[in-house]
Amino acid sequence: MTERQLEHLKLVVYQVYPRSFKDSNGDGIGDLNGIIEKLDYIKDLGVNAIWLSPCYKSPNEDNGYDISDYRDIMDEFGTLDDWKRMIAEMHKRGMKLIMDFVANHTSAEHMWFQESRKSKDNPYRDYYYWVDEPLNDWQSVFGGSAWQYDETTNQYYLHSYAVGQPDLNWENPKVQKEMVDVIDYWVNLGVDGFRCDVLDQISKDFENDLNANGPRLHEFIKMLFGRPETEHLFVIGECWGAKENNIKLLTGADRRELSTLFQFDHIVVGYGDGNRFNPVPFTLDDVSDKLIKWQDFMQDNDLVATLFFENHDQPRCVSKFANDTDKRYESATMMATMSFLQKGVPFIYQGQEIGTANPYSENIDDYDDIETVNYYKMNPKNLDEEQLFQNMNYGTRDASRRPMAWDNTENSGFGGKPWIPVYNRYKEINVELDLKAKKSVYRYFQKLISLRLENDAFISGKYENITGDRKGIYVYKRYTETDCYIVVCNFENETELDISTNCSLVLSNCGNRVINGTYVPYECAVYKLNA
Ligand code: GLC
Ligand code: CA
Repeated sequence: MTERQLEHLKLVVYQVYPRSFKDSNGDGIGDLNGIIEKLDYIKDLGVNAIWLSPCYKSPNEDNGYDISDYRDIMDEFGTLDDWKRMIAEMHKRGMKLIMDFVANHTSAEHMWFQESRKSKDNPYRDYYYWVDEPLNDWQSVFGGSAWQYDETTNQYYLHSYAVGQPDLNWENPKVQKEMVDVIDYWVNLGVDGFRCDVLDQISKDFENDLNANGPRLHEFIKMLFGRPETEHLFVIGECWGAKENNIKLLTGADRRELSTLFQFDHIVVGYGDGNRFNPVPFTLDDVSDKLIKWQDFMQDNDLVATLFFENHDQPRCVSKFANDTDKRYESATMMATMSFLQKGVPFIYQGQEIGTANPYSENIDDYDDIETVNYYKMNPKNLDEEQLFQNMNYGTRDASRRPMAWDNTENSGFGGKPWIPVYNRYKEINVELDLKAKKSVYRYFQKLISLRLENDAFISGKYENITGDRKGIYVYKRYTETDCYIVVCNFENETELDISTNCSLVLSNCGNRVINGTYVPYECAVYKLNA
């Protein structure tokens, strides 16, 4: 590991989805001043970096992932001056700011696209992909063909996501230059890193029918981030399709591309054919198998991994993977322990730190997410209404986009009447209650994070899976030459553990115990080996 990689392993990141975090002026939409109000709350958790989902100008067809101006702030969120205050307040508290960077597409309302669609000889025409006939049968991630007919010039353009999210043509050197300029604009304003949206899609391979991981991907990423001006940044690529070989190329320390990446092998467990609306049975062993596989791979290749179970595109982890009713506290803390003490950079998604569970609704008006609403309208498998809603509740991205529940007052303490209904369990699960509770998920996260940050075994230390052929439990070691920790995470059933070691308990979610014996459902514990 290089010095830079070791620096990155000391990060603990908190993701803010600004629209749903905190509304400071009562218009029902979260905003930058709301984030400023809550910076101490975030900081007290022990995190040292914030990833902010897009806050740029946008018509919000895909909640800000459709950008119409890369250099300015969305009106509802505030102004550039608010943003400058926000980053200054973060830096004052020792927290880095990681901005979201959407390079694969713009909004159809972006000036480039407005010009581009006007005529075939418009100077911006080649900023996007225009063709006489669809080149292939690529489907939009949000449903329907990825090729949209446009009357003005009687041609089609490519949109891998919403119709209002045309794909940028990265083969055009002008597009490359524009995007480099956008990075530099924010770097000059002091940002510390970027989370790069669907980054592996910026290079496509039409001949081989690949809409990601095209032949020029590494070249494009180096243009963006392989420069002296960007050397200090922490850069994470969202790379759904990255396989072993590409992961090495994308994140190798000597490659000057990415610091780390998100891949989703452990996240898509439970999604039949990778489809979030297609629930299939699984066990937590299926999940830990993936974690083990990638921990080993990343370590063997000296790469920095990301550690996460949630983000703004995924259901709440207690609901999807564990128990969100009588064992909610145990589930939330066990899932966090299972993930965040491994080797890599932990990412916490807003609300995860109080064990927020999925909402449930069988009313289409409660949904906002374009992917979910399209799924409902298209009903591709012709399901009856009940089954349709069951699948929607299982995988909808709205599950993590309900307003943050700060307390049990009106609108869950979020602000004005929110743009999406409040979370239906907010009276039972909210920040105020959790902080007061005997079993506080937030307080457990605090201990977990400080344990991680204060012991090098969890930063630079080696990872070793010692689960053996046991089922229903995940046991791993983190160690340096001087210290060794054992992390035990039990799944939904009681499990007996018998390991001959002499160690002391340092953290647990079920009270005092010793390493051997019976673990109750969702119990977890961390031990330090005695010298
Ligand atoms: C990423 C984002 C998701 C967005 C999509 C298109 O997957 O995380 O929210 O809809 O890209 O930008
Ligand atoms: Ca507001």
